[in-house]
Amino acid sequence: MAAAGSAVGLGNIWRFPYVVGENGGGAFLLIYVAIVALFGMSLAMSEIALGRATRRNPVGAFAQLGGNAWRPLGYLGVLSGFVILSFYIVVAGWTLAYIGFMSRGVIVSTEPAQLGAHFESFIASPLQPLAYAAVFMALVAWVVGGGIGKGIERFSKLLMPALFLLLIGLTLRAISLPGAAEGLRFFLTPDFSKVSAETFSAALAQAFFSLSLGMGCLLTYGSYLKKSSAIASTTGAVVGLDLCVSVLAGLMVMAIVFSFGFDPAAGPGLTFVTLPAIFATMPGGVLFGVGFFILLAVAALTSAISILEPTVAYLIDEHRFSRGKAVLLCTAVCFAMAIPSSLSFGHWSGFHLFGKTFFDLMDHAATNYMLPLGALLSSLFVGWKWSKGAINELSRPGAEPASWTRGWLLFLRFVAPPALAWILLTSAGIV
Ligand code: TRP
Repeated sequence: MAAAGSAVGLGNIWRFPYVVGENGGGAFLLIYVAIVALFGMSLAMSEIALGRATRRNPVGAFAQLGGNAWRPLGYLGVLSGFVILSFYIVVAGWTLAYIGFMSRGVIVSTEPAQLGAHFESFIASPLQPLAYAAVFMALVAWVVGGGIGKGIERFSKLLMPALFLLLIGLTLRAISLPGAAEGLRFFLTPDFSKVSAETFSAALAQAFFSLSLGMGCLLTYGSYLKKSSAIASTTGAVVGLDLCVSVLAGLMVMAIVFSFGFDPAAGPGLTFVTLPAIFATMPGGVLFGVGFFILLAVAALTSAISILEPTVAYLIDEHRFSRGKAVLLCTAVCFAMAIPSSLSFGHWSGFHLFGKTFFDLMDHAATNYMLPLGALLSSLFVGWKWSKGAINELSRPGAEPASWTRGWLLFLRFVAPPALAWILLTSAGIV
């Protein structure tokens, strides 16, 4: 349940639809599904196994099984956590703001220009989005600090299924809009002329982001998993659910995009700009809209918790921090990094580094480089250095290893490392 809460979040509902839109639709979806099934499954199983075998944080886990030489792989995860959380809380803040916009009825419209202008002017303002990001960060800190972990667990068990049901309902509504068929065609029919190396790296980056892979998130959660739970089926359920939520969100957003004439390649604002349109067409739309953004904020919260927890666990285990101090330090650093991210949509939009705004740079650095690098090194580690232990961890205690574990090991040894290395090098423009 916790791993599903980590996986399902803004990655599915905010990031996936706009990345599909930017990368040409159907062909991207096909590549994405293949990458999730192969890379997503096998790397998620490795991470969970590493965590459960060592019962440690990412840095401690690699050091325990591989010696000090592997410690930096854990540090990479800790660093990725900071980078990801710093822009994640900005988008989560937008979600909080949209709860208010919906409830006050200021975005009841199906007009792309009007919805776009509202979004743009909101994210460009200097203080408001940062205030929302601060509120969200405070919530995350409160939960990870030990305040309301049990409470979150109890009510997200109720709210996550609610989000899923609402999403199904909204998707059905969206695909029955006039003109929605064009959106379904865009999303579901592969157009291979739009595929390039870039498509693969974008799909891989999206898969890692959505499945919380490559930074020790699932490793940390695996360290709390019972020995009697089967890793493969647990992972399969999480990966399958995460994929379903993304596909639903993609269908919904693309149907709205084509029905009302939005631009599918509009970038990071896509979900926020398009969604209000569907609520504007529904009886009781304001109520559904408010409900939707509340549930999305909760989904973002359970994901953000999981981004912070590995770093906090590391500071507590390896540096003897108290939980409170660890949370305070991480919160301060993340929020400080969120400031330039948020401002890069307004006052600092002219400031570019490597041709990207600060927000894009953080997102790109983390998802296109740090997570795939983390995944590349962990597949080498699990495939070559810890293979016996890994197979044991995946097998039922005392039983012979299942035959699929061989295939899994071969994938980690021979397929994942060169494929990930190729994707890293093409992203960097080296090949
Ligand atoms: N998967 C989450 C989402 O889709 C975000 C997330 C949680 C994440 N933990 C992570 C992303 C670790 C990368 C790495 O919203």
